Amino acid sequence: MKKYNKFIPVNTPLINKKDALSVFKSVQSGWISSEGPNVRIFEKKISKFLNRKFGCSVSSGTAALEIAIKSLGLKKNDEVIMPSFTIISNAIAIVKSSAKPILVDVDLNTWNIKIEDIEKKINKKTKCLMLPHIYGLSNDMDKILKIVKKHKIFLIEDAAEVFGLKYKNRYCGSFGDISILSFYANKHITTGEGGMLLTNNFKLYQKFKDLRNLCFGKKKNRFNHYDIGWNYRYTNIQATLGLSQLKRVNRIIKKKFEIGNYYYRHLKNIKNIIIQPNKLSYCKNIYWVFGIVIKKNSKISIGKVLKKLSAQNIGTRPFFWPMHKQDIFKKKFNFKNLKLPNSEFISKNGFYIPSGLGISLKELKYVKDTLINILK
Ligand SMILES: Cc1ncc(COP(=O)(O)O)c(C=O)c1O
Repeated sequence: MKKYNKFIPVNTPLINKKDALSVFKSVQSGWISSEGPNVRIFEKKISKFLNRKFGCSVSSGTAALEIAIKSLGLKKNDEVIMPSFTIISNAIAIVKSSAKPILVDVDLNTWNIKIEDIEKKINKKTKCLMLPHIYGLSNDMDKILKIVKKHKIFLIEDAAEVFGLKYKNRYCGSFGDISILSFYANKHITTGEGGMLLTNNFKLYQKFKDLRNLCFGKKKNRFNHYDIGWNYRYTNIQATLGLSQLKRVNRIIKKKFEIGNYYYRHLKNIKNIIIQPNKLSYCKNIYWVFGIVIKKNSKISIGKVLKKLSAQNIGTRPFFWPMHKQDIFKKKFNFKNLKLPNSEFISKNGFYIPSGLGISLKELKYVKDTLINILK
Protein backbone atom coordinates (compact mmCIF):
# COMPACT_ATOMS: atom_id res chain seq x y z
CA MET A 1 0.00 0.00 0.00
CA LYS A 2 1.25 3.49 -0.88
CA LYS A 3 2.66 5.26 2.17
CA TYR A 4 0.62 8.26 3.39
CA ASN A 5 2.37 11.52 2.62
CA LYS A 6 2.35 12.77 6.20
CA PHE A 7 2.44 11.31 9.68
CA ILE A 8 -1.00 10.65 11.21
CA PRO A 9 -0.73 11.25 14.97
CA VAL A 10 -2.86 9.34 17.48
CA ASN A 11 -4.65 12.56 18.25
CA THR A 12 -5.44 15.66 16.22
CA PRO A 13 -7.71 18.11 18.05
CA LEU A 14 -10.39 19.97 16.14
CA ILE A 15 -10.20 23.66 16.93
CA ASN A 16 -12.25 25.74 14.51
CA LYS A 17 -12.18 29.42 13.56
CA LYS A 18 -14.90 30.35 16.05
CA ASP A 19 -12.90 28.70 18.86
CA ALA A 20 -9.78 30.62 17.84
CA LEU A 21 -11.69 33.90 17.60
CA SER A 22 -13.23 33.43 21.03
CA VAL A 23 -9.76 32.96 22.53
CA PHE A 24 -8.52 36.04 20.71
CA LYS A 25 -11.39 38.06 22.17
CA SER A 26 -10.71 36.75 25.66
CA VAL A 27 -7.05 37.74 25.43
CA GLN A 28 -7.94 41.10 23.95
CA SER A 29 -10.37 41.81 26.80
CA GLY A 30 -7.54 41.49 29.29
CA TRP A 31 -9.28 38.65 31.18
CA ILE A 32 -6.46 36.16 30.97
CA SER A 33 -6.17 34.70 34.49
CA SER A 34 -8.53 32.65 36.64
CA GLU A 35 -10.29 35.86 37.68
CA GLY A 36 -12.09 36.20 34.35
CA PRO A 37 -15.90 35.79 34.15
CA ASN A 38 -15.90 32.83 31.75
CA VAL A 39 -14.36 30.49 34.32
CA ARG A 40 -17.54 30.53 36.40
CA ILE A 41 -19.79 30.43 33.33
CA PHE A 42 -17.93 27.35 32.00
CA GLU A 43 -18.21 25.63 35.39
CA LYS A 44 -21.96 26.31 35.50
CA LYS A 45 -22.55 25.09 31.94
CA ILE A 46 -20.60 21.86 32.43
CA SER A 47 -22.39 21.20 35.75
CA LYS A 48 -25.75 21.81 34.12
CA PHE A 49 -24.90 19.51 31.21
CA LEU A 50 -24.04 16.70 33.63
CA ASN A 51 -26.85 17.56 36.04
CA ARG A 52 -24.55 18.36 38.96
CA LYS A 53 -24.97 21.17 41.47
CA PHE A 54 -21.38 22.39 41.59
CA GLY A 55 -18.38 22.43 39.27
CA CYS A 56 -14.88 23.59 40.18
CA SER A 57 -12.43 24.00 37.30
CA VAL A 58 -8.74 23.21 37.82
CA SER A 59 -5.55 23.04 35.79
CA SER A 60 -5.79 19.33 34.84
CA GLY A 61 -7.62 16.08 35.46
CA THR A 62 -4.65 14.97 37.57
CA ALA A 63 -5.03 18.09 39.74
CA ALA A 64 -8.75 17.35 40.09
CA LEU A 65 -7.96 13.85 41.40
CA GLU A 66 -5.47 15.19 43.96
CA ILE A 67 -7.97 17.74 45.23
CA ALA A 68 -10.74 15.11 45.27
CA ILE A 69 -8.74 12.79 47.51
CA LYS A 70 -7.49 15.55 49.80
CA SER A 71 -11.00 16.95 50.23
CA LEU A 72 -12.13 13.64 51.73
CA GLY A 73 -9.63 14.03 54.59
CA LEU A 74 -8.21 10.52 54.32
CA LYS A 75 -5.70 9.44 56.96
CA LYS A 76 -2.51 7.43 56.81
CA ASN A 77 -3.26 3.78 56.02
CA ASP A 78 -6.80 4.51 54.87
CA GLU A 79 -7.41 2.45 51.75
CA VAL A 80 -8.70 3.46 48.36
CA ILE A 81 -9.72 0.77 45.88
CA MET A 82 -8.95 1.33 42.20
CA PRO A 83 -8.23 -0.74 39.08
CA SER A 84 -4.60 -1.49 38.29
CA PHE A 85 -5.12 -0.78 34.61
CA THR A 86 -5.58 2.99 34.38
CA ILE A 87 -3.64 6.23 34.16
CA ILE A 88 -1.11 6.80 36.93
CA SER A 89 -2.90 10.01 37.97
CA ASN A 90 -5.40 7.87 39.92
CA ALA A 91 -2.70 6.19 41.98
CA ILE A 92 -0.59 9.33 42.41
CA ALA A 93 -3.49 11.22 43.99
CA ILE A 94 -3.92 8.45 46.56
CA VAL A 95 -0.20 8.02 47.25
CA LYS A 96 0.38 11.76 47.74
CA SER A 97 -2.40 11.85 50.32
CA SER A 98 -0.56 9.07 52.22
CA ALA A 99 -3.54 6.74 51.86
CA LYS A 100 -2.94 3.35 50.28
CA PRO A 101 -4.00 2.26 46.79
CA ILE A 102 -5.60 -1.20 46.76
CA LEU A 103 -5.53 -2.62 43.28
CA VAL A 104 -8.18 -4.69 41.54
CA ASP A 105 -7.92 -6.42 38.15
CA VAL A 106 -9.97 -5.39 35.13
CA ASP A 107 -12.54 -7.22 33.03
CA LEU A 108 -11.18 -8.71 29.80
CA ASN A 109 -14.21 -7.67 27.79
CA THR A 110 -14.67 -4.03 28.91
CA TRP A 111 -11.18 -3.23 30.34
CA ASN A 112 -12.99 -1.55 33.27
CA ILE A 113 -12.61 -2.67 36.90
CA LYS A 114 -13.68 -6.26 37.57
CA ILE A 115 -16.73 -5.52 39.68
CA GLU A 116 -16.96 -9.00 41.19
CA ASP A 117 -13.49 -8.53 42.73
CA ILE A 118 -14.16 -5.20 44.47
CA GLU A 119 -15.86 -6.50 47.60
CA LYS A 120 -13.08 -9.04 48.20
CA LYS A 121 -10.79 -6.07 48.89
CA ILE A 122 -13.11 -4.06 51.14
CA ASN A 123 -12.34 -3.98 54.86
CA LYS A 124 -12.56 -1.55 57.77
CA LYS A 125 -9.80 0.64 56.36
CA THR A 126 -11.51 1.07 52.99
CA LYS A 127 -12.72 4.63 52.60
CA CYS A 128 -13.20 5.17 48.91
CA LEU A 129 -13.54 3.61 45.46
CA MET A 130 -11.75 5.49 42.70
CA LEU A 131 -13.42 4.51 39.47
CA PRO A 132 -12.21 5.49 36.01
CA HIS A 133 -14.34 4.67 32.96
CA ILE A 134 -11.80 3.29 30.52
CA TYR A 135 -11.38 4.25 26.84
CA GLY A 136 -15.08 4.83 26.11
CA LEU A 137 -17.18 2.30 28.02
CA SER A 138 -19.04 3.05 31.23
CA ASN A 139 -18.73 0.89 34.31
CA ASP A 140 -21.97 -0.82 35.37
CA MET A 141 -23.04 1.97 37.69
CA ASP A 142 -26.07 0.23 39.27
CA LYS A 143 -23.75 -2.48 40.57
CA ILE A 144 -21.09 0.04 41.62
CA LEU A 145 -23.56 2.26 43.50
CA LYS A 146 -24.93 -0.78 45.34
CA ILE A 147 -21.43 -1.68 46.57
CA VAL A 148 -20.43 1.83 47.72
CA LYS A 149 -23.77 2.32 49.48
CA LYS A 150 -23.62 -1.06 51.20
CA HIS A 151 -20.12 -0.42 52.56
CA LYS A 152 -20.60 3.33 53.11
CA ILE A 153 -17.52 4.32 51.16
CA PHE A 154 -16.99 7.37 48.96
CA LEU A 155 -17.08 7.14 45.19
CA ILE A 156 -14.68 9.25 43.15
CA GLU A 157 -15.85 8.79 39.59
CA ASP A 158 -13.18 9.54 37.00
CA ALA A 159 -14.98 10.53 33.80
CA ALA A 160 -11.87 12.11 32.24
CA GLU A 161 -12.08 9.91 29.16
CA VAL A 162 -15.82 9.84 28.64
CA PHE A 163 -17.37 13.29 28.56
CA GLY A 164 -20.74 12.84 26.84
CA LEU A 165 -21.07 9.09 27.53
CA LYS A 166 -24.34 7.93 29.07
CA TYR A 167 -24.90 5.04 31.46
CA LYS A 168 -28.53 4.13 30.70
CA ASN A 169 -30.02 7.61 30.43
CA ARG A 170 -27.65 9.41 32.78
CA TYR A 171 -24.30 10.98 31.94
CA CYS A 172 -21.06 9.57 33.34
CA GLY A 173 -19.69 12.25 35.60
CA SER A 174 -22.99 12.45 37.45
CA PHE A 175 -22.53 9.43 39.72
CA GLY A 176 -19.65 10.13 42.11
CA ASP A 177 -19.75 11.85 45.49
CA ILE A 178 -17.04 13.57 43.50
CA SER A 179 -16.64 13.16 39.75
CA ILE A 180 -13.78 14.53 37.71
CA LEU A 181 -13.15 15.52 34.09
CA SER A 182 -10.10 16.36 31.98
CA PHE A 183 -9.89 18.89 29.16
CA TYR A 184 -6.47 17.83 27.86
CA ALA A 185 -5.90 18.11 24.08
CA ASN A 186 -7.10 14.57 23.37
CA LYS A 187 -10.40 14.92 25.24
CA HIS A 188 -13.83 15.50 23.66
CA ILE A 189 -14.04 19.04 24.96
CA THR A 190 -10.51 20.38 25.14
CA THR A 191 -8.97 23.56 26.44
CA GLY A 192 -5.37 22.43 25.91
CA GLU A 193 -5.01 21.50 29.57
CA GLY A 194 -7.63 21.61 32.30
CA GLY A 195 -9.97 19.63 34.46
CA MET A 196 -13.03 19.88 36.67
CA LEU A 197 -14.42 18.50 39.91
CA LEU A 198 -18.16 17.97 40.16
CA THR A 199 -20.29 17.33 43.22
CA ASN A 200 -23.72 17.96 44.72
CA ASN A 201 -22.18 18.59 48.15
CA PHE A 202 -21.71 22.29 48.93
CA LYS A 203 -19.10 21.69 51.64
CA LEU A 204 -16.93 19.62 49.32
CA TYR A 205 -17.31 22.28 46.64
CA GLN A 206 -16.05 24.94 49.07
CA LYS A 207 -13.06 22.73 49.87
CA PHE A 208 -12.27 22.24 46.19
CA LYS A 209 -12.21 26.00 45.64
CA ASP A 210 -9.92 26.58 48.60
CA LEU A 211 -7.56 23.73 47.73
CA ARG A 212 -7.11 24.86 44.13
CA ASN A 213 -6.19 28.33 45.37
CA LEU A 214 -3.59 27.94 48.13
CA CYS A 215 -6.12 27.78 51.00
CA PHE A 216 -5.91 31.48 51.73
CA GLY A 217 -6.69 32.48 55.32
CA LYS A 218 -10.35 33.08 56.11
CA LYS A 219 -9.88 35.36 59.09
CA LYS A 220 -8.20 38.74 59.26
CA ASN A 221 -4.96 37.71 57.66
CA ARG A 222 -5.54 36.40 54.13
CA PHE A 223 -1.87 35.40 53.91
CA ASN A 224 -2.01 33.18 56.95
CA HIS A 225 -3.04 30.10 54.96
CA TYR A 226 -5.23 27.58 56.77
CA ASP A 227 -4.12 24.41 54.96
CA ILE A 228 -1.68 23.18 52.32
CA GLY A 229 -3.32 23.74 48.97
CA TRP A 230 -2.10 24.21 45.42
CA ASN A 231 -2.22 26.75 42.67
CA TYR A 232 -4.30 24.56 40.36
CA ARG A 233 -6.33 27.44 38.94
CA TYR A 234 -7.90 27.42 35.48
CA THR A 235 -7.72 30.44 33.22
CA ASN A 236 -10.34 32.57 31.51
CA ILE A 237 -8.62 31.87 28.18
CA GLN A 238 -9.12 28.13 28.66
CA ALA A 239 -12.71 28.53 29.83
CA THR A 240 -13.48 30.65 26.77
CA LEU A 241 -12.16 27.94 24.47
CA GLY A 242 -14.25 25.36 26.35
CA LEU A 243 -17.41 27.46 26.09
CA SER A 244 -16.96 27.80 22.35
CA GLN A 245 -16.75 24.00 21.96
CA LEU A 246 -19.70 23.38 24.28
CA LYS A 247 -21.91 25.11 21.71
CA ARG A 248 -21.38 22.13 19.40
CA VAL A 249 -21.00 19.44 22.06
CA ASN A 250 -23.59 17.09 20.54
CA ARG A 251 -21.85 17.17 17.17
CA ILE A 252 -18.49 16.47 18.86
CA ILE A 253 -19.89 13.47 20.73
CA LYS A 254 -21.57 12.15 17.57
CA LYS A 255 -18.32 12.40 15.62
CA LYS A 256 -16.46 10.46 18.32
CA PHE A 257 -19.06 7.68 18.06
CA GLU A 258 -18.73 7.68 14.29
CA ILE A 259 -14.92 7.43 14.25
CA GLY A 260 -14.96 4.54 16.71
CA ASN A 261 -17.77 2.73 14.97
CA TYR A 262 -16.03 3.03 11.61
CA TYR A 263 -13.04 1.12 12.98
CA TYR A 264 -15.29 -1.27 14.89
CA ARG A 265 -17.29 -2.24 11.81
CA HIS A 266 -14.14 -2.99 9.80
CA LEU A 267 -12.07 -4.65 12.52
CA LYS A 268 -14.63 -6.69 14.47
CA ASN A 269 -14.10 -9.86 12.43
CA ILE A 270 -10.30 -9.85 12.43
CA LYS A 271 -9.29 -13.04 14.19
CA ASN A 272 -6.04 -12.17 15.97
CA ILE A 273 -7.20 -9.07 17.84
CA ILE A 274 -9.52 -8.18 20.74
CA ILE A 275 -11.40 -4.88 20.69
CA GLN A 276 -13.87 -3.41 23.19
CA PRO A 277 -17.55 -4.05 22.39
CA ASN A 278 -19.20 -1.11 20.65
CA LYS A 279 -22.15 -1.36 23.01
CA LEU A 280 -23.21 -3.01 26.24
CA SER A 281 -26.74 -3.42 27.63
CA TYR A 282 -26.33 -0.09 29.45
CA CYS A 283 -24.15 2.10 27.19
CA LYS A 284 -22.78 2.78 23.74
CA ASN A 285 -18.99 3.03 23.43
CA ILE A 286 -17.98 6.68 23.00
CA TYR A 287 -14.45 5.68 21.87
CA TRP A 288 -12.17 8.18 23.58
CA VAL A 289 -9.49 6.09 21.94
CA PHE A 290 -9.78 3.00 19.75
CA GLY A 291 -7.87 0.27 21.56
CA ILE A 292 -6.65 -2.99 20.05
CA VAL A 293 -5.19 -5.99 21.90
CA ILE A 294 -3.19 -8.61 20.03
CA LYS A 295 -4.46 -12.07 21.04
CA LYS A 296 -2.25 -14.56 22.88
CA ASN A 297 -1.64 -17.00 20.05
CA SER A 298 -1.42 -14.48 17.26
CA LYS A 299 1.34 -15.06 14.70
CA ILE A 300 2.29 -11.40 14.76
CA SER A 301 3.58 -9.64 17.89
CA ILE A 302 2.55 -6.19 19.07
CA GLY A 303 6.13 -4.98 18.53
CA LYS A 304 5.98 -5.90 14.85
CA VAL A 305 2.54 -4.35 14.37
CA LEU A 306 3.64 -1.04 15.90
CA LYS A 307 6.84 -1.00 13.85
CA LYS A 308 4.97 -1.62 10.62
CA LEU A 309 2.34 1.03 11.39
CA SER A 310 5.06 3.55 12.17
CA ALA A 311 6.83 2.74 8.89
CA GLN A 312 3.54 3.59 7.15
CA ASN A 313 3.33 7.00 8.91
CA ILE A 314 0.69 5.91 11.44
CA GLY A 315 1.05 6.98 15.06
CA THR A 316 0.16 4.60 17.89
CA ARG A 317 0.33 4.56 21.69
CA PRO A 318 0.78 1.54 23.93
CA PHE A 319 -1.84 0.97 26.64
CA PHE A 320 -1.40 2.17 30.24
CA TRP A 321 1.16 0.19 32.22
CA PRO A 322 -0.54 -1.41 35.27
CA MET A 323 -0.03 0.22 38.64
CA HIS A 324 1.25 -2.96 40.33
CA LYS A 325 4.03 -3.14 37.73
CA GLN A 326 5.18 0.47 38.22
CA ASP A 327 8.73 0.55 39.58
CA ILE A 328 7.93 3.57 41.78
CA PHE A 329 5.15 1.67 43.59
CA LYS A 330 6.40 -1.92 43.61
CA LYS A 331 8.56 -1.71 46.72
CA LYS A 332 6.57 0.89 48.60
CA PHE A 333 3.34 -1.10 48.49
CA ASN A 334 4.56 -4.64 48.28
CA PHE A 335 2.92 -5.16 44.92
CA LYS A 336 5.65 -7.61 43.91
CA ASN A 337 3.57 -10.70 44.40
CA LEU A 338 0.30 -9.24 43.24
CA LYS A 339 -1.05 -11.04 40.18
CA LEU A 340 -3.66 -9.25 38.11
CA PRO A 341 -3.50 -11.24 34.87
CA ASN A 342 -6.00 -9.29 32.77
CA SER A 343 -4.36 -5.93 33.51
CA GLU A 344 -0.97 -7.45 32.70
CA PHE A 345 -2.17 -9.05 29.49
CA ILE A 346 -3.91 -6.05 27.96
CA SER A 347 -1.10 -3.69 29.00
CA LYS A 348 1.52 -5.81 27.30
CA ASN A 349 -0.46 -6.44 24.13
CA GLY A 350 -2.60 -3.33 23.71
CA PHE A 351 -2.22 -0.16 21.70
CA TYR A 352 -4.44 2.46 20.17
CA ILE A 353 -4.65 3.99 16.73
CA PRO A 354 -5.37 7.54 15.47
CA SER A 355 -8.91 8.64 16.35
CA GLY A 356 -8.75 12.36 17.20
CA LEU A 357 -11.65 14.60 16.23
CA GLY A 358 -9.47 16.24 13.56
CA ILE A 359 -8.80 13.01 11.62
CA SER A 360 -10.07 13.04 8.00
CA LEU A 361 -12.10 10.28 6.37
CA LYS A 362 -9.18 9.63 4.01
CA GLU A 363 -6.85 9.17 6.98
CA LEU A 364 -9.32 6.90 8.78
CA LYS A 365 -9.63 4.70 5.73
CA TYR A 366 -5.86 4.59 5.27
CA VAL A 367 -5.27 3.59 8.92
CA LYS A 368 -7.95 0.90 8.73
CA ASP A 369 -6.70 -0.57 5.41
CA THR A 370 -3.05 -0.54 6.50
CA LEU A 371 -3.85 -2.21 9.81
CA ILE A 372 -5.97 -4.90 8.19
CA ASN A 373 -3.13 -5.59 5.74
CA ILE A 374 -0.63 -5.96 8.58
CA LEU A 375 -2.89 -8.20 10.65
CA LYS A 376 -3.91 -10.51 7.75
C1 LIG B 1 -8.86 8.16 33.32
C2 LIG B 1 -8.04 9.39 33.37
N1 LIG B 1 -8.01 10.10 34.51
C3 LIG B 1 -7.28 11.23 34.64
C4 LIG B 1 -6.52 11.68 33.60
C5 LIG B 1 -5.64 12.88 33.81
O1 LIG B 1 -6.05 13.98 33.10
P1 LIG B 1 -4.99 15.15 32.75
O2 LIG B 1 -4.19 14.69 31.59
O3 LIG B 1 -5.89 16.31 32.41
O4 LIG B 1 -4.19 15.40 33.96
C6 LIG B 1 -6.51 10.99 32.39
C7 LIG B 1 -5.71 11.47 31.25
O5 LIG B 1 -5.84 11.09 30.14
C8 LIG B 1 -7.26 9.79 32.28
O6 LIG B 1 -7.23 9.07 31.16
